[in-house]
Amino acid sequence: MIQFAVVGCGNIAKKHTELIQKKAFLAAVCDVVEDRANDFAYRYNTKSYYNIDDLLKKENDIDVVVVASPNGFHAEHSIKSLEHGKHVLCEKPMALGAKQSRRMISAAERAGKKLFVVKQNRFNPPVVEVKKIIEKGKLGKIYSVQLNCFWNRNHEYYQNPWKGTLDLDGGVLYTQFSHFIDVLIWMIGDVKETKSVMTNFAHKGVIEFEDTGIVLLEFANGALGTINYTINSFENNMEGSITIFGEKGTVKIGGEYLNKLEYQNIQNYHIDNLPTASEANDYAGYKGSMSNHDKVYDYILDNLKDSSNTSTNAEESLRTVELIEQIYKGAIRL
Ligand SMILES: NC(=O)c1ccc[n+]([C@@H]2O[C@H](COP(=O)([O-])OP(=O)(O)OC[C@H]3O[C@@H](n4cnc5c(N)ncnc54)[C@H](O)[C@@H]3O)[C@@H](O)[C@H]2O)c1
Repeated sequence: MIQFAVVGCGNIAKKHTELIQKKAFLAAVCDVVEDRANDFAYRYNTKSYYNIDDLLKKENDIDVVVVASPNGFHAEHSIKSLEHGKHVLCEKPMALGAKQSRRMISAAERAGKKLFVVKQNRFNPPVVEVKKIIEKGKLGKIYSVQLNCFWNRNHEYYQNPWKGTLDLDGGVLYTQFSHFIDVLIWMIGDVKETKSVMTNFAHKGVIEFEDTGIVLLEFANGALGTINYTINSFENNMEGSITIFGEKGTVKIGGEYLNKLEYQNIQNYHIDNLPTASEANDYAGYKGSMSNHDKVYDYILDNLKDSSNTSTNAEESLRTVELIEQIYKGAIRL
């Protein structure tokens, strides 16, 4: 049975540990806050460690390390695990910046191990279906696309010490909206040029970056796009949507988490019988992206069982980070 360890025993780690216990074997957990590591170890009947070096030194039989620590540690924790001969499943975003992400890919290549990044929104039924029809050419040439990310993250959410910091959180495009940006470029293709304006309206003194931004995109295939994003949607998450205008059709995937097909008008085609989307992750106080982590585990477990399969999603994850970095570097900050 494939053996896992989880580094970082916070909100999203619960999802991982529960799924690992269902589908594989949980050999150990690790958190710098000792009580958290011990609580997890007790709850999931496994061993606890308080730093990743001890874990990697002592747990020789682990096959996969799940990196569920703050964003700013993803590169360090993934590279250490790969250098100890472990495969890695890293939470999103892959890392804070393309340089670190490339170092992770090189470490995986050197070690001959696999590096995966969690991209659970790709499994949302309307996302799967629209991706399919774009590939089949049903929308024809894509003219333009609008990504709207309107969520709420209030001051209480940012009481968690790493959240809101530049070095560990990185920004709302990394922490809240990288899933959406991943789906955007997965569907439409690479982006050539970006222009962006951003500002912090309602979180001054609370976060070290913007809470709202507007981005213009020119894709390599000529399509134009925008990203409108904010964490100031009053009291609740309101919308996470992609609208695509093609020469043969218009579609909008919406809901709060890209979980509903809200509009379709496609020449000689109709999307029918979409399976029901899973629920969003609920962290008592705020909601995150769709809870498709079970599909992420099915994907990596299948991938790891097939030794002829050398593919992972690391290169695609790098492209998401590159785009976020490009947007942030070029931004006009008001
Ligand atoms: N895929 C998703 O939908 C999704 C949802 C939520 C969070 N995430 C990602 O998961 C990661 C964790 O987010 P969270 O919301 O669970 O945060 P969290 O704050 O609830 O948990 C992070 C945990 O990591 C621990 N930690 C900090 N430094 C550490 C270190 N050096 N070594 C070991 N543990 C350390 C903290 O003590 C904390 O318990 C982030 O990268 C976040 O972006 C992904």
